[in-house]
Amino acid sequence: MTEDMTEEISRSWEAELDLHSVCRAAADGSPMPMAAVDSTEHVIRYVNVAFCLLTGKSRHELLGKRFAGIAPCADGCLALLDGVSQTGLADKYTGREHTGTHPLYWSYTMWPVLARDHRQLGIMIQVMEAASLRDDTVAMNEALLLGSLRQHELTEAADLLNTQLQAAIAVRIKTEEALIGSEKLASAGRMAAVLAHEINNPLESVVNLVYLAKTTEGLPTSVHHYLDMAEAELKRVAHITRQTLGFYRESSAPTTFEVVELLDAVVDLLQAKISSTKVIVEKQCDHLLAITAVSGELRQVLSNLLSNSLDAAGEDGRVVLRASAVPAHAGRDKRIRITVSDNGYGIDARTMPEIFEPFFTTKGDIGNGLGLWVCKQIIGKHSGLLQIRSHTQGPRKGTTISVVLPAFCI
Ligand SMILES: Nc1ncnc2c1ncn2[C@@H]1O[C@H](COP(=O)(O)OP(=O)(O)OP(=O)(O)O)[C@@H](O)[C@H]1O
Ligand SMILES: [Mg+2]
Repeated sequence: MTEDMTEEISRSWEAELDLHSVCRAAADGSPMPMAAVDSTEHVIRYVNVAFCLLTGKSRHELLGKRFAGIAPCADGCLALLDGVSQTGLADKYTGREHTGTHPLYWSYTMWPVLARDHRQLGIMIQVMEAASLRDDTVAMNEALLLGSLRQHELTEAADLLNTQLQAAIAVRIKTEEALIGSEKLASAGRMAAVLAHEINNPLESVVNLVYLAKTTEGLPTSVHHYLDMAEAELKRVAHITRQTLGFYRESSAPTTFEVVELLDAVVDLLQAKISSTKVIVEKQCDHLLAITAVSGELRQVLSNLLSNSLDAAGEDGRVVLRASAVPAHAGRDKRIRITVSDNGYGIDARTMPEIFEPFFTTKGDIGNGLGLWVCKQIIGKHSGLLQIRSHTQGPRKGTTISVVLPAFCI
């Protein structure tokens, strides 16, 4: 053995002792697992109690063993140990192990242990994270993941319940509206019945007076004509009151009449309104077109439609009343189509679904919102159809409402 070799051995022995005692002083009481290895072979020269507990081995079993054989340590870890010993700088290593169901992470912090004369004695390794800690983390992560999944499910369930609640509220609002509507109707019906009853008596007197006036001798023809019209309208009023009081079925018998007469009567009836609005009203009717129906009711329908068109057309407007036959075809009997068209402001898409609802009006105080509702009831009773087309702008601006009725409404 040369002198050099003897010196080398004694220096290494000293270093080993120094490393052990230095580390012992610094790390014995640490709760973090720590081990110290020599710089060349990475042989364990020191372990603290926490390291023994972590590895499940006694200090005696660990000292003198290679670090790689004790703790999970890949090639990268050993290279890093070499790096720390060469550079003298601290470093950190994290290794992943694929044993068991979950990947386990080992993380070490390493730094050189120096003697008082700055000689490097070895490398201290502190275990920052180990399998057992990792297990807890994995378990915690799993719990968090399950929690967030559960939360997602709960959010979805809450969303669903919310949607159902909104739908239920919407149905309830509709039902309440319908109830309010039907209550309004019921009270309006009662009021109408009372009014009809009260109107009946003076009406009979007026009918008698008109009759007396008509039979007066020497009346000018024009006055006679006016009295005829007044009598016809009084009959209509009487018919409406009877209808309101529930006597309608017994007293309303259909008759056969020419449709042109019907159109004339409606235009005559609304003559005052036509003149005040300056709307041009035209009639186009197939010659000798006849229908069998209750004339007073059809007059009521057409006067409601014409009145609406006059409101919509305004000044310089134009309204056309048309009547034509729809010949029998495809197993259907002959029908009569009567249309009322105007070039007025039209009905927008938002308003359209509402117009046949009772009490729906866009006319504020001057509208009752009953005209079209009454039309719908009467046309329905005659097994007829109401068709509507409307534009609020463009060359076809305006509204056309068609009434299609069986030629024999009996
Ligand atoms: N020819 C039309 N042009 C434009 N809007 C119309 C026309 N006909 C009906 N409407 C719309 O339909 C609504 C309902 O009409 P409806 O005849 O039932 O009631 P109203 O005319 O408002 O009141 P009233 O009970 O006095 O007739 C009107 O308020 C109006 O908005
Ligand atoms: Mg109306």
